[in-house]
Order: sequence, then structure tokens, then C-alpha cells
Amino acid sequence: MSDALQRATGCSRSPFPDLSGATERALAGYADLLRAVLPMKAAHRRKLADNIQELSTFLVEDRAEVLGRDYLHAPAALGAYLWYFLPWNLLRMTRLLGGLNLDPPEGGTVVDLGAGPLTLVQALALARPDLLARELHFHCLDTTPRPMREGRKLYHGLVDILENGLVAGRGRWKIHLVHAPWQVGIKSVPQADLLTAGNFLNELPWNRRDPLSEQVAGFFQTVAGHVRPEGHCLFVEPGNRFGGKLVSLAREEAVAGGWKVLGPCTHHQACPMLEHRETSWCHFTLSTRGCPPWLRELSREADLPKRDISLSYVHLAGPGSPDRLLDRKAEQNPDRNASSEQMREGPLPQGWARIVSGEFSVPDRMREGREAMVGRYGCAAQGKLLILSPPGHSATRSGDCVRFRLDDPPKRDSKSRALVAELLPAMDGPKKKAASPTTRPGQSGQSATSSPPARGHREDRKPRTNPKATSNGHNRRPKRSQS
Ligand SMILES: C[S@@+](CC[C@H](N)C(=O)[O-])C[C@H]1O[C@@H](n2cnc3c(N)ncnc32)[C@H](O)[C@@H]1O
Repeated sequence: MSDALQRATGCSRSPFPDLSGATERALAGYADLLRAVLPMKAAHRRKLADNIQELSTFLVEDRAEVLGRDYLHAPAALGAYLWYFLPWNLLRMTRLLGGLNLDPPEGGTVVDLGAGPLTLVQALALARPDLLARELHFHCLDTTPRPMREGRKLYHGLVDILENGLVAGRGRWKIHLVHAPWQVGIKSVPQADLLTAGNFLNELPWNRRDPLSEQVAGFFQTVAGHVRPEGHCLFVEPGNRFGGKLVSLAREEAVAGGWKVLGPCTHHQACPMLEHRETSWCHFTLSTRGCPPWLRELSREADLPKRDISLSYVHLAGPGSPDRLLDRKAEQNPDRNASSEQMREGPLPQGWARIVSGEFSVPDRMREGREAMVGRYGCAAQGKLLILSPPGHSATRSGDCVRFRLDDPPKRDSKSRALVAELLPAMDGPKKKAASPTTRPGQSGQSATSSPPARGHREDRKPRTNPKATSNGHNRRPKRSQS
């Protein structure tokens, strides 16, 4: 893919780069850092796995009790969070941040809402050690002070490790802890060049009275008022239904306010995942590659092993961002970066889609041979797509950005109602050898055949407009879980 198109669409072939060797080594040594920062008595260590399991149950099943409470204040819960949830979040966020175009200016301000043990700050240091040489001011806001204090020690320990291997000279980041609810704390910090919130939105006490879309819109408007016009916002949530919905709703409000979506979307049209009766949600599933052996072992001990990690995110640039016009132009003429030969190829509509599922076989779409086609769901300006390729032709992963061509005339998959499209070869390199589809039905929250459980009919919307999200169905509060 050309650099221009990558910048214009926020597309990257693989938005979740693998960890560097140095980052993997830093995570391998993170257990020693945890032991140094939070020394544990033998009795506490013996109970660690149980405490992890208890906190997990608490966060997943007893959400009502968690919300609005300083649950990380208790030593057992804090230990469980630091040893299990923090390192898994570091792994997932480091993969994410490594693929984003983050470039806060020298002397810039980063505001992190619901910072906890400074997970996002630490992940940014791991993903972008080059930024450690830049003076950046991190204002970390949280209602519970102790995790932030421990997190600051962990951050400094991490920088020491990174400096040994990677960074020349001392890191120049300044960490400011703000012990306050976000609405209060945000008024006391400078306007952000980058505002982040990780695993935070799903912890806010959304009420059942008002439509969720309106509540998230209000949240975004408040937050946006504290970001510089050319600044960026990054929201990262667990890859579950509720996390995906919160992120999509924040995106809708941002677009309505003139913000640019840098990722994961390839377009600024309404989010297809918020369609009435759509049952899937926007999220990405990554392998656990790079997970340190000690974390794998502890997760097994706690009976909470992970085969993959998932997340939902949206990366936004403010209305004053210089990239904004470029992107709008790209959308008006999505083919402007295609070669003239490709533009001559014919009248079929082409475009770019973000892959939002694993691959699965599609048995009811036989071509010449007997082999099933390979399918995956994609998100594009035209809506949700079922993108097909012959077996063995191309391998895609959750999060990839691909070219597609809609069937002519346009057809919808009878069950998922997704528009059927053909996967086009990547422009930026040789085809990858396909692995056989391994996704099982239901994995990643997406159906894995072309005959998933019935989904709602989505109205054709062409051209699709960009209204604010409607309140349809969004005022219900789906079950939430912490990952
Ligand atoms: C699940 S933790 C996430 C911590 C960290 N960002 C991470 O990704 O690991 C959510 C954090 O949000 C904080 N929090 C919850 N409600 C808050 C509020 N109204 N204002 C500020 N912080 C809040 C909690 O204290 C907790 O530390």
C-alpha cells in the first residue's frame, strides 16, 4: 500500500505489529520488576492465583458491585491486577500502540483517563521507546491513588530496563498523578495533545434511563473540549460486545463533531456494527505471541489461560488536524491512489475494508472445484462485507486492511446480510501463502460460516450518510466483562 493511502485511510496491512525482541525481553523481566515494586510475602504469593480468579469473577460477573468503587484499593485485588490484568493489558496495548501513528509534539501533553497502574504509559514506552527521548507530560487521572503510585514505580523500572537495551539517555517523560474523578481532574490539567482511556469507558456508571448513545455522546463532548483542536484521542476497550459498542458510539459522536477517524475504520460513514439488529461488534483478535512464559504459567495456575487476546479501539484526530482534508478527499475518490491500470479495470466498485473476523470456510459458495471458499467479515464505507477468496489464495488476519470488489450486481449473504465481495490481491507485496481457515464458528464473536445465526436485515444505504448514532437498542446495557 502506498504511504499516501496508508496515511489517508489509516490503513495498514497489519495494524498490530509483533513485539520487538527488546520489548519481549522487557516483558520477560517484568515479573522481577513486579517483585521489586510490590514485594509479596510467601502467604500472599500462595494466594495470588486465587486472588486473580476472584478479581476476574468480580470484574466479569459482579459488575454492579464494582462500578464506582475503589476495588483496586484492597491489597489482594491490587496484587491480582498488577500480576495478571496489567501484563495482559500491556501485551495487547503494546501491540496496538506499535501500529498507530502517534506523534505528540516535544513538550506535549498526554492525558490518560482511568489510568490505573499507568498501563497505557508503560505500554507506550514498550511500543515506542523512541518517544522516551521526547519531553512529554503525562497527566494520569484516577479515583484510586495506590495503583497509580505503584504504576509510576513500575514505569520507572521499565524505563531502566529499556534504557539498558534500547534507549540512549534517560527517558524524558514527566508523570503527574491526579487523584480525582475524571470530570473533575480533567479541568485541572492542560489541554491534551493526546487523550487516552484504556479499559475505562466500560467502568463508567452508565445509567439505564437514558440511551447509551446519548450518554457516550455527552462523555465524548466533554472530553473533546479538553483536547487541542489538532490533538488525538485513543479509546481502547476490552474486545467484548459492550467494549465494542462503547467505542463505536464514541466514534459516531466524534465523526458528527468533525473529527477524523484514523483507525480502525477505513471510512467515515456510519458504523455498520451499530445497525439495528446487528449482532456482532467491532473488535480484533490477536495471537498471544510475545506473552512472557511467567505470565502464561501464572494464567494457567489461576485457571485463566488465554489462547488469544482481543480489543476494541478507535483512534481519532481533532477537527483541526492537518490530516483531515486529505482523508476526506481520499474518501470522495477512494481510487485516487490506485494505479491508472487498476482504475481502468472496470466499473465494479472497489474499496478498502478492515477485516473484523478470522477466516472461515464458506461451504455454500462453491466455485469450479469442490473446495469451499474462504470468507471473512470486513468493514467498509459500503457497510459490513462478507469477503471471499478461493482457498489457498490469500491469508488475512483480524485487523488487516484489504482491497475488495463488490459482487456485480451487489448481493447480500442471506444470513449475515453482509454485502458479498471478492478479496483483491494486496498491492504492496507478494501474496502470502494461505493457512487453512482455523477459526471455529462463534470465535471472535463473528460467525464462521456463511450460515451464521440469523442476523437482522440492514437497509441498503447508498450513499451512506453519517448521522449520529440512533438510540435504537443502545440504551440496553449488555453484559460486560473485563479482559
Ligand atoms: C479497569 S481499570 C483500567 C486501568 C488501566 N487503564 C488499564 O488499562 O489497565 C479502570 C480504572 O478506572 C478507574 N476509574 C473508574 N471510574 C473512574 C472515574 N469516574 N474517574 C476516574 N477514574 C475512574 C478505576 O479506579 C480503575 O483504576
